[in-house]
Amino acid sequence: MSSQPITTRITAAEDVAGQIRAYTLEATDGSELPDFSAGAHIDVLLGNDLIRQYSLCSDPAERHHYRIAVLHEPDGRGGSDYMHRQLKAGDELKIHGPRNHFELDMSGDNYLLLAGGIGITPIMLMALQLQAAGKPFTLHYLCRTPEQAAFRHWLEETFGSAVEFHYSYGDAAKRLDLRALFSLQNQPTRVYTCGSEGLLQAILDAAESLPDIEVNFERFSAAPVADDAVSEAFEIEIASSGETLQVGEAQTILEVLQDAGHEIETMCKEGLCGSCEVDLLEGEADHRDSVLNDAEKAEQNVLMVCCSRARTPRLKLDL
Ligand code: FES
Repeated sequence: MSSQPITTRITAAEDVAGQIRAYTLEATDGSELPDFSAGAHIDVLLGNDLIRQYSLCSDPAERHHYRIAVLHEPDGRGGSDYMHRQLKAGDELKIHGPRNHFELDMSGDNYLLLAGGIGITPIMLMALQLQAAGKPFTLHYLCRTPEQAAFRHWLEETFGSAVEFHYSYGDAAKRLDLRALFSLQNQPTRVYTCGSEGLLQAILDAAESLPDIEVNFERFSAAPVADDAVSEAFEIEIASSGETLQVGEAQTILEVLQDAGHEIETMCKEGLCGSCEVDLLEGEADHRDSVLNDAEKAEQNVLMVCCSRARTPRLKLDL
């Protein structure tokens, strides 16, 4: 980890839906926070090596505070439980970032924004950005019940008829018909979505064979590894020194680099945050992250060393 964290204070912690609490953060020295755009996240340092990524959901024009919202998952990996149980207004919190791997491309003429549950946080800022630019969009917010829809009233007041709520009440038959929604679009449409893996897969399935529907997404958790993925050993070459290192079947590139004394910034170690990105000079990576989109993966210019492997016997890294 090389960049310096920012020390913030939690100035407000408020429940914005069942199990979802929003935290407002201000720099303890009162200074402006780094700017960001819709889709950006920060890394939150929770102690004991616990680092979690949360999308920013405050207005990017407001530079004196950030806002994040956290879904309490008692059976999760500990980050949200720590946030909900341990942190309150007045507490200090160290953060890194912001970083954005989910940028909104404003060149489209028609947009569908699909948010599932806590996935509303990056999506609501995209809606704000599209609204400010006068671009046509509809925000579809998919939740189990109205009580679980975070920022519901603000969304209604801000976006009016451009936001539609879809409540399943746990009944699959009540879910939004994605294929029908996509088929109704009569022009090329950019879809931006954030939600569960199940929702993402349903959206990708519904968009399949519809060339006018372009899906852009952000994952909450590591992407599933393909069934046919293998983890064979390979070599990495360090461009600056010519040093060659072996990456064993059970090792990550990150582990090998760190063992050899290379300092690599890492925030999530599971392909979610983009902090461990390294330029790839030669060879073909087997990308296993959720940061790069398909086009970026195909370019083979960079890779996330915490999770990606190699499709060629050697990768040459710009280190
Ligand atoms: S450490 Fe987060 S993507 Fe590698």
